[in-house]
Amino acid sequence: MNSHTFKFYKLSNLLIFMFFTFALLAQKSVPLEQRIDETLKQLTLDEKVALLHAQSKFSSAGVPRLGIPENWMSDGPHGIRNEVLWDEWYAAGWTNDSCIAFPALTCLAATWNPEMAALYGNAIGQEARYRNKNVLLGPGVNIYRTPLNGRNFEYMGEDPYLAAQMVVPYVWNVQKNGVAACVKHYALNNQEVDRGHINVIVDERALHEIYLPAFKAAVQQGGAWAIMGAYNQYKNQHACHNQYLLNDILKRDWAFDGVVISDWGGAHNTEQAIINGLDMEFGSWTDGMRANKSNAYDLYYLANPYLELLRNGKTDVKTLDDKVRRVLRLIFRTNMADERHFGSFGTSEHAAVGRKIAEEGIVLLKNTNINAKIAKTNKTSALPVLPVDLSSTKTILVVGENAVKRMTIGGGSSSLKAKYEISPLQGIKNRVGNAAEVIYVKGYESPATKEPDVKNAKNPDKKNIDYAALRAEAVAAARNADVVLFFGGLNKNEHQDCEGGDRETYDLPYQQNELITELLKANPRTAVVMISGNAVAMPWAKTASAILEAWYGGTETGNAIAAVLFGDVNPSGKLPFSFYEKLTDAAAHSLGDYPGDGTNVEYKDGIFVGYRWLEKQKIAPAFAFGHGLSYTTFRYDKITADKTSISENDKITFNLTVTNTGKFDGAEVVQLYISDKQSSIERPAKELKAFKKVFLKAGETQNVSLTIDKTALSFYDVTRHDWTAEQGTFEALIGSSSADIRAKISFELKNN
Ligand code: BGC
Repeated sequence: MNSHTFKFYKLSNLLIFMFFTFALLAQKSVPLEQRIDETLKQLTLDEKVALLHAQSKFSSAGVPRLGIPENWMSDGPHGIRNEVLWDEWYAAGWTNDSCIAFPALTCLAATWNPEMAALYGNAIGQEARYRNKNVLLGPGVNIYRTPLNGRNFEYMGEDPYLAAQMVVPYVWNVQKNGVAACVKHYALNNQEVDRGHINVIVDERALHEIYLPAFKAAVQQGGAWAIMGAYNQYKNQHACHNQYLLNDILKRDWAFDGVVISDWGGAHNTEQAIINGLDMEFGSWTDGMRANKSNAYDLYYLANPYLELLRNGKTDVKTLDDKVRRVLRLIFRTNMADERHFGSFGTSEHAAVGRKIAEEGIVLLKNTNINAKIAKTNKTSALPVLPVDLSSTKTILVVGENAVKRMTIGGGSSSLKAKYEISPLQGIKNRVGNAAEVIYVKGYESPATKEPDVKNAKNPDKKNIDYAALRAEAVAAARNADVVLFFGGLNKNEHQDCEGGDRETYDLPYQQNELITELLKANPRTAVVMISGNAVAMPWAKTASAILEAWYGGTETGNAIAAVLFGDVNPSGKLPFSFYEKLTDAAAHSLGDYPGDGTNVEYKDGIFVGYRWLEKQKIAPAFAFGHGLSYTTFRYDKITADKTSISENDKITFNLTVTNTGKFDGAEVVQLYISDKQSSIERPAKELKAFKKVFLKAGETQNVSLTIDKTALSFYDVTRHDWTAEQGTFEALIGSSSADIRAKISFELKNN
């Protein structure tokens, strides 16, 4: 090639490159809605309907003719689920689908740190993107109404404000990866018993004040691209096709422009699915053409039956086009987004994110000096058990099945095939090394269960568990140990923290109460570590000097727990729900309106859920909403407001200083609750309306400001069907938990 031809060759290449770049840019600059309009015009009726229902367990069709890709969904909400067979729930047996398991959402909520939700969302979004999923089935924000709900661990607690603050960054950060967050289960899916049909009767005020705010925030502030309808009914319509929840509230009032996806098998009727707001139907049923000649996916409510109504002119194309637009919007926002990186999967960075969240979410419920007399009799120090001081500890006894049980497996659809899971025992061994001897005894065990997700898995042989013998062995070992670390709580077996059923009792299972009681007697230097996603009865709590709630922490759980136990990390989690002394302290159980009569469940507790009920009834919880201790102490000073009254469009700021008065660096969550002192209707004694987590070095003081406006003072007025703030006196209660209020400041709201 001479230099002339070479130059020409380079120039033509450059021109071709520029042409394609401009073509691409021109394509990119076409606004989303225009792309949708143009695509819609090109679709046949069959193609439109095909977009609206599943083609496999977790996917739906695209339009290959036009280069529009399929949608692929994945559970959620704690990691990217393994691949399953085309038509079945069972694992497909891939070898490259082992994910990072992140902490359960209760743990995330317990961090009370929206920055952790952002890290979580981004990391799980990257994992989803790498696996080519464009919809993540999560997060879940159903309110914790009863501690028996088997799915509470997948949700963010009992308070609508806390859940709303935490869900927004999760959604936002998942979606910045070109993956839609599908917020679930909309709405009122607060129990698993009868979940497929139970009709929830709830007053309009409780619906708006308690059960909807987190969904609303996910849509309006988080910009969620997808919502999953719940299994249950509301106003005698299934939530997956519900005029009130979907058309009136979600799509009209909140202006949601994304897709409504049915929960798997949550659609029940073609006409209702068409007119009552469902956009995509999944999981209705299929047997993969084994017993049926026709393709079962074509028999979905939003498949051939819909097509037939359309062909016969019995339903309008306008409604169809609205659904199709929403699905196209989803595809253009995700699979066909202009800028979409490749994501990353199973990385050490993601594991580190999970560990950080797990560490920040662990809640130190109790850590007191050991009773001096008991310490003396046992010839041991009276200092608190935690953090464990390795310089004075030679033998550590670890007791309990939960020290070794894999918790990323089981629990229903959130079950994960984790790349690895550090058990608490392993975490302790990693941390202790040769500094002390670590001995493990089981102490109790749960009956073996069938392996979930595995096709043709065998039911394990039933064996009799000799609890007394297991207990005796552990108690004998406890007498000779310097420190005992007990790991118990719930697990992901049926009727524990597990989808598809609720817990049958508030008590700990597998005779753990007997074991803990005896361990505490045998060795007062025992720390009780609960692994669960729910509160449990702790009849031994008064005699225990150290109790830790460690949740389900995912891949790095054992390392995170060990970091807290040995003081590398100072606990800073706060409870996202109340720990009741007994089940009847919870409103739903006190009023006897759980789980309903098999047809209806009436939420007679109305807005008085969780601490709102406890405050009203003046019931002291075992551990209050917002409670969580630290290895250090914090002092609150100079709590003031910047004004004494505000008008409707004003804001008010509360300022204070927080000082770390102990020897450890640590973090405190300053909480602001509002109390309406002059109201025309009954209001809760306090409602969380702002919080801030502050990190303080030992001895450090920081200024903290919390600002609210009239939204924090409002209630849902059922006569106006809208939010109202009435003028009059309010009190701001500032404290370290809902039960530990350090100052009260009065102020007035004046109408303009
Ligand atoms: C659950 C959903 C889940 C879906 C797909 C349903 O049974 O309720 O939360 O996303 O299955 O696995």
